[in-house]
Amino acid sequence: MNVLVINGPNLNLLGRREPEIYGTQTLKDIQDELRRAFPKIRFTFFQSNHEGVIIDKLQSTLSKKVDAVVINPAAFTHYSYAIRDAISALTVPVIEVHLSNIHLREEFRKHSVIAPVCKAQISGFGSAGYRIAVETLLQHSPKS
Ligand code: DQA
Repeated sequence: MNVLVINGPNLNLLGRREPEIYGTQTLKDIQDELRRAFPKIRFTFFQSNHEGVIIDKLQSTLSKKVDAVVINPAAFTHYSYAIRDAISALTVPVIEVHLSNIHLREEFRKHSVIAPVCKAQISGFGSAGYRIAVETLLQHSPKS
């Protein structure tokens, strides 16, 4: 199974960015953890601070062998109709992940424009959220 894991803006700063909210693990720590937890899965890890670049990556799954996408769209979660439309165009399952519980935070974070076009939203489990997402995909995959 090939899983594309996309992280949006400012998540490259994990480890030093508001650790009281996002924890002390770096993005690389989280990616290493995923590889260790699921040795049979072929992961592609991608991070960008740019909306269009994330859209290009999502669209690339239409022509590449990608079975599922896990995405933390970061702040784009709350307003990017363009990323939402790109996800709508995909044929593979997509799971939205947030490290923090967006529903317990500022008003503007409580709404996701992305969640309605995803299979699920996982929010508030810290880095374990990515593992839960992959576990869920495996359980629903016909050829896990
Ligand atoms: C986040 C939550 C978003 O509101 C925020 O803009 C982020 C990270 C999370 O993982 O908790 O950058 O997606």
